[in-house]
Amino acid sequence: MNNQVFGTVAIIGQGYVGLPLAKAASAVGFEVLGFDVSDQTVEALRNGVSHIDDMSDDDISKMLDQGYHPTADPNDLKRASVFVICVPTPLADTGGPDLRAVESATHTVARSLTPPATIILESTTYPGTTENLVQPIIESYGWEHGRGFLLAFSPERVDPGRVDYTIVNTPKVVGGVTEDATKSAASFYGHFVEEVVPVKGTKEAETAKLLENTYRHVNIALVNEMAMFCHDLGIDIWEVIRAASTKPFGFQKFTPGPGVGGHCIPIDPNYLSYEVKKQLGYPFHFVELAQEVNAGMPKYITERISEILNKDRKALNGSKILLLGVTYKADIKDQRESPAIPVARYLADSGAEIEFHDPHVETWNANGTLYNRRNDLQQAVQDADVVVLLQDHESYDVAELVASAQRFFDTRGAVGGEAAYRL
Ligand SMILES: NC(=O)c1ccc[n+]([C@@H]2O[C@H](COP(=O)([O-])OP(=O)(O)OC[C@H]3O[C@@H](n4cnc5c(N)ncnc54)[C@H](O)[C@@H]3O)[C@@H](O)[C@H]2O)c1
Repeated sequence: MNNQVFGTVAIIGQGYVGLPLAKAASAVGFEVLGFDVSDQTVEALRNGVSHIDDMSDDDISKMLDQGYHPTADPNDLKRASVFVICVPTPLADTGGPDLRAVESATHTVARSLTPPATIILESTTYPGTTENLVQPIIESYGWEHGRGFLLAFSPERVDPGRVDYTIVNTPKVVGGVTEDATKSAASFYGHFVEEVVPVKGTKEAETAKLLENTYRHVNIALVNEMAMFCHDLGIDIWEVIRAASTKPFGFQKFTPGPGVGGHCIPIDPNYLSYEVKKQLGYPFHFVELAQEVNAGMPKYITERISEILNKDRKALNGSKILLLGVTYKADIKDQRESPAIPVARYLADSGAEIEFHDPHVETWNANGTLYNRRNDLQQAVQDADVVVLLQDHESYDVAELVASAQRFFDTRGAVGGEAAYRL
């Protein structure tokens, strides 16, 4: 790594991925143009206000001092020599990614391009997007790859809330359209990432990201399915996992839960199965099975809550259910694709009265209904017919909560013993 100023980098999309990248690049001396279509986001960033978990307001202020310019004006991008596209790729109705933001961001880049420029796509997508979608758009403006610009794909590996692995010490995979493109993109990241991993091409880099997320999706589905039959067999799945995890090789620990959430795991593997089916006409069985198992967990959780009440001759209909932790993972405020939403839907459909608590969420919009957090946690726990731990936030003293609850259902394996029902 060196500390020379590399030039001006334009980062398109200032969200969970674009903003930490802007921080890392400005810290080593790049002038960073943080472009976003949301005027509200740009305005907040200009005022030193962060809108994501991993960045504090202080981080933004420091970046502003270091040469970071948030902007919603594409004309500002003309002086950039590196463009990194970090816009969302949500799931479309067809099952593949909705690439409208990538298309529009690419047009923005192409219109602002001043050669020679290096363009890098970081948004997660199906294999072929960089060369079959992004490259033709740029070329439609009269530029030629290798002359006016170089193009590469580099998957983002950000794990929101994580402090031990950041953009700096997480190896960065880079695959370009040509070797020159790989080298140029690798040289950009080499200024602030400790290890850059060049790969053969863009498709290999795109698919590597999908393999990583599919691997997690499939393994979580495996333990979720085991959790369900272990319950029926009277076997403690958490003890099974604890035992298996003592094997020092050939096993990686995954834990069951109420479903998968976030922007990556429930979504990205679908891009791969969509493309396999579209191009080859046959299914990607593992992804489809994992999807079925993981998407079924919220319903299973509701059935277990019903079973817990049933033991005391109570019905879900009319019972007060307190949900603890509604974000998609512990200790962050991100609620995207959180399984708490379908859990709430199944509970509401059964006539349950829902309450919630989450240290990171004050007002919760679940399926169009707004819930206000119960601020007196102890009282809320005592009031509920069943308390359900969906997310094991660090601030929860779970053993104490279990002791106060009438019935406690722990979906995260946070407590041992017989006092709580466990997944
Ligand atoms: N969040 C993660 O943990 C994570 C991890 C790895 C990969 N990714 C991938 O990175 C990509 C970005 O995800 P994110 O979590 O940063 O999304 P995000 O929603 O947090 O941020 C995206 C930003 O892009 C802006 N935007 C949308 N369209 C735009 C356009 N045409 N031009 C400029 N800005 C535009 C939005 O206003 C928003 O601020 C996605 O493809 C995602 O799959 C995300």
